[in-house]
Formats: sequence, structure tokens, C-alpha cells
Amino acid sequence: MTRPGMHTLTHGRGLLFGGDYNPEQWPEHVWTEDVELMKAAGVNLVTVGVFSWARIEPEPGARDFGWLDRVLDLLGDAGIAVDLATPTASPPPWLGHRWSQTLPVDESGHRLWYGARNQFCPSSPVYRERALAIVTDLADRYAGHPALALWHVGNEYGQICHCDDSAAAFRAWLRERYGDLDALNDAWGTTFWSQRYSDWEEVITPRRAPYMINPTQRLDFWRFGSDALLAHYRAERDILRARTPDTPVTTNFMGLFKPVDYWSWAPEEDLVANDYYPDPADPLAPARSALTHDLMRGLGGGRPWMLMEQATTAVNWRPHNLPKPVGQLRLESLQALARGADGLCYFQWRASRFGAERFHAAMLPHAGPDTRLHAEVRAHGAELRRLAPVAGTRVAAKVAMVHDWASWWALEERGQPSDRLDSTGQLLSYYRPLWERGVAVDLVPPSADLSGYALVVVPNLYLISDADAASLTAYTRAGGVLVVGPFSGVVDPLAHVRTGRFPAPLREVLGASGEEWLPAPEGRPVSCRWADGTGFAAHTWTELVRSDGAEPVAAFTEGDLAGHPAVLRHRSGDGVAWYVATMPEHDALAELTTRMLADAGVTGALPELPPGVEAVRRGPVLFLLNHGDGDAHVPIPAPAEDLLTGSTAEGRITLAPRAVAALRPLDTL
Ligand code: GLA
Repeated sequence: MTRPGMHTLTHGRGLLFGGDYNPEQWPEHVWTEDVELMKAAGVNLVTVGVFSWARIEPEPGARDFGWLDRVLDLLGDAGIAVDLATPTASPPPWLGHRWSQTLPVDESGHRLWYGARNQFCPSSPVYRERALAIVTDLADRYAGHPALALWHVGNEYGQICHCDDSAAAFRAWLRERYGDLDALNDAWGTTFWSQRYSDWEEVITPRRAPYMINPTQRLDFWRFGSDALLAHYRAERDILRARTPDTPVTTNFMGLFKPVDYWSWAPEEDLVANDYYPDPADPLAPARSALTHDLMRGLGGGRPWMLMEQATTAVNWRPHNLPKPVGQLRLESLQALARGADGLCYFQWRASRFGAERFHAAMLPHAGPDTRLHAEVRAHGAELRRLAPVAGTRVAAKVAMVHDWASWWALEERGQPSDRLDSTGQLLSYYRPLWERGVAVDLVPPSADLSGYALVVVPNLYLISDADAASLTAYTRAGGVLVVGPFSGVVDPLAHVRTGRFPAPLREVLGASGEEWLPAPEGRPVSCRWADGTGFAAHTWTELVRSDGAEPVAAFTEGDLAGHPAVLRHRSGDGVAWYVATMPEHDALAELTTRMLADAGVTGALPELPPGVEAVRRGPVLFLLNHGDGDAHVPIPAPAEDLLTGSTAEGRITLAPRAVAALRPLDTL
């Protein structure tokens, strides 16, 4: 049976626009005003009930749905669809008070109390029973309600717990994975430091210990943590699906969020949804956002996804919260749309008067509708209707970038040669020069079918399985272009070092191999030069590597490494493999990117792109977004209609700072 998905929502509605709506914080007369203002702003979807458990179940076993009935009726009558949340992200105080074993415990053994949110242990049988009971009643009550369009399970899953229930669940997970204790002892290498387990009951979560904890135990706990949350998500989802088979089910992701392996989660959802809050103080935010949006598209296998939450201006959870300049709200939202989002929603509709988030921006600020900010929100809602033809279309990419959660977890443990090689930092370094050229990139897991890509970039795969290494090798030999960043192929899926010259499973395809990892002194550039003698700088990391057939493209020029290769390029079968044995500065990575793209025969969306301008093609529409501070003049290939303004553009287009164009070539009209 085909599952419902994003298309179910956009069908007849166009792009989705709206936000979290928390009417339980307001008297009912405000609800009527809310709905009127939502209609005026073009809102067509709101997320309701995320934090309503205590309101629906004021005491154990009680049910109060009357208020929610009225909210859904009001919204339904106004033609506003509801993304109804299961309220299980924040149990009422009575749950933790009566059953303290439902509360999470941190790695030091401290229980975390109620008074905020997220205070549950995903492995607690009591939590699970109570959560599933309320989800069942919620689904029974609203199955068939005309306003119900989407289910939102929990909120931003990410809890990690070390309580006794979690330890028992961890043991069960390990038994499933390893079978017997001998296999566990081998996998974890427990002969090291006398860690051998003699009984399953001795096995615990990696709680705080006097010194560095067994890295494989930690890695398995990351895996278990993601799976334990997923098991709970699935239990809720299955209740919803059984009662409303035609209503899509999702939960909200958090971008490159470490505790949860979204590659394993995404297939369990009917559509991918993300919460994303770029920091206005971050100069790399536009590229970082693009990377995150591409990940969401990748998680959905290329299908349109949904930006479930973003902020209209400042959030209140950073220490110092910069606002978005005028126009930034629109620019950021349209960036997500250009990169595959069919839904653009916010946290939240009306700013709260009380509670921890009362200084967080909203679509309707405390000052009311007669405000600059709300005017921007309305204008954005209105223009989305003009972009309706974009709904359902896709971004086509010839470049894939590999990201893997297990490798991320394993890389960023204690006891590594350096803690400066962070997984997402490497990802962004390699992504940025591609983004600057308007080259579309799909984020993929290491196990993906790579055959459709001309270029595959592996910024870092510290941990790699034999099968994934074989797949990268076969891809290259069959004519692909592969790029591998430093400290890759180092450990196997148990986080045991692969012996021999590195990167052991990729040596052959790379035509190069190394023998020492050499972190570089902090704050001092590593000097290198290209084969033609031009110099460039790298930083943080170097390796002693030799060519085993690859052509040295760049070399180190100083110290013990002087004359040894820093970058190598190898013809392998019908393809080409690159190995980068250091961390080149941005300009040098940009130069490398030019060469790799040339090998792969891939070009960007436009031949010439001024700095700060993002270009991405979605279906027939070319989106141009000016993230820079000055006017940008962009030559365009063919006469086109700007869907945002209805005007025709030809030759070149001028974009003011934060301006966006959505160009549909006239010959496709
Ligand atoms: C997340 C949560 C929301 C809210 C916002 C604030 O996205 O899902 O409930 O706390 O953060 O930015």
C-alpha cells in the first residue's frame, strides 16, 4: 500500500504555511482572534497539542478533550489543517512524582526532575504504558476529524538515560546484537584494563567512571540510545496508523543532531520534518542551513520535506540572541523551499506570555498584529501562494556527500589523536565550496546506491564497514569520482583499529597509504604547495602518506613532512579517487573542489555566481538568493518569469541584499 506523505498534505492546499499553536496558554476568546489572523496571514496548517498532556490528563487516567475538540472544530471550520501532536514529550508532574522511575537519569546517576520538559526515560515501562494510553485515546477521539491532516509524534526526540530500566534495555539490545557474553567481551575488547564481564547483570550503560570509558561500549550506547527512542516513536506511530491509515505520521528532526541516527529513523516516517534555527551571528549560517536542508531532502530519498519549526526572528535559548534583519525571515524560509521543502512553518504562532519561552519570537509578537514583524509574516504567507507550482518538484544532484552517524559517534570520543577533527565541521568544509558554486549536493548514508552520482565526497568516514568500503571502491572503478578526507577508514564498526597502512579498506582505490597521523600545532598554518609550486595553507591535521601509484597533487613543505604528499589523485578503473591527508584552508579546498568537479564533469547551476549568492534549481525553477550585504548582479541563461513578482527577467538580474528570485524559464511556461 502506498503510504500517505507530503503530497497528501499539499494536494489541494499548495505549500504549507503555519506554525506551532498552543491555544491552551490562552483564554478561548483569543482563539477566535487567532483563527481570523491566521486566515489573514495565509496560514493553512498548525501544529497543536505538543505540550498538552497535563491539560488532557490532569490526573492519572482522567481525560479532558473538550477544549481540544473546540480548537480542532474552530480550525477545521476555518479551513486550517491540523498537525496533531501526541503530547508525550512532556509528561505531567504527577507522572514523575508518583513514578520517579519514569524520570531520566544522567551519566552521573542524577535524576532529572520535572519543571521543564523532556523528562522521561524512553525505556521506562511505566512511561511507555501511560504515553501509549493517551496516544490511543487521542487517536480514537480525532480519527476522522476533518481538520486532522498530519500526526506529529512527540517532539524533538533526543533523550539519553542511564537509569536501571535503561541499563536493562541496553542489555537486551546487546544480547540481540551479540548473542552471548563472549561475543560482547570480544566486541568491546574487554581484555583491555581488566573490563571482562562474567555475567550479563554486570553490563551497564557507560555511566560516569574514573577515567576514559571503553569506546565500543560508548559507541554501542549511542546506537542503543537512538534505537530505544525509535522503538518508542514506532509504538506511538503504530497506534496512529492503525486508526488513521490515510493520515501521514512524522516527528520533528533537529538537523545534524548527534544522538539520533536519522538514516534509520526517516524510513519509519511518512514525511521528513525538521526544526531549524540558524544563528544570525554565524557568518557560515547560509551554507550550514543549505547543508542541513539537503540532509532533510536526502533523508526523504529526494522527496519534498517540511520545515516544521523556524523562528521569525530571535530565539531565546542562546546566551545572546541576535534578531534577524528585515527580510531575513523570508530569505531563510525561501532557502528551505528552494532546497526541497514543501512546508514552511514556525515556532510558534502567538508569542507566549509566560513560561520559559516568553522571549522567543513568534509569528504574532506580543505587540500584536500591527507590527513590522507580523507584516513580514503576512507578506511571506501571501507570496507562498505564488510559488504553489513548486510543490512536489525535486532538486536533481550529481554530487553526493556521505554522512554517517556511527562514524560521527565513534570519531568524537575521548582518547583520539585529536579532538579537533569534528564530523560536522569536516562535512561543512567540503560542502561550502560546492554550495558557493551552486552545485547541488545530495546527502547520503555510506550504504547508498552511488551509481547515479558523478562525484562522491567523503569528508570523513573514520568508521567504515568492509561492505561500504567495497561499495566506494566499486563506484570509483565503474567511472565515478571519489574524494576522501583525512582520518577515514581508520576503524571497523566495532571501533577496532584496522591494522596495516591506512586507510586499510580504501588503500587500493586511493593508490596511496599512510603510516602516521600527525596533529599539527594549534594556531599555526601548515604550509603546502600545489604541483605547480603555488603555496596554500592547511591546519590542525597532517598525515605521513606515500603514493602507491597515485599522483601527488600537493605536498607539505615544512618539517618532517616536507616533500611528502598532502593531496593525491589516482586513476582507478574507469574513475578517479582523491585523498586529502590534511585540512586545507577554505580557499585551497575551493581550488581542490574545482579540480574534482572538472574530473566529474559537473558544473553549478550557473556558470558565474557572485559571492554570497546561492543558486539552486528545483524542478524547472532556478532560485537565486542573495545572502550578501550588497547588490548582486547575476547573469541568467535564458529569459524567465520571476514567480515571486510576475515580472520577466532577461540577460542579468540584480538582487538587493536578502532578495530572492524564483526564475521559471519562459520556454517551460
Ligand atoms: C524547538 C521545540 C519548540 C520550541 C523551540 C524554540 O523547536 O520543538 O517546542 O522549544 O525549539 O526554539
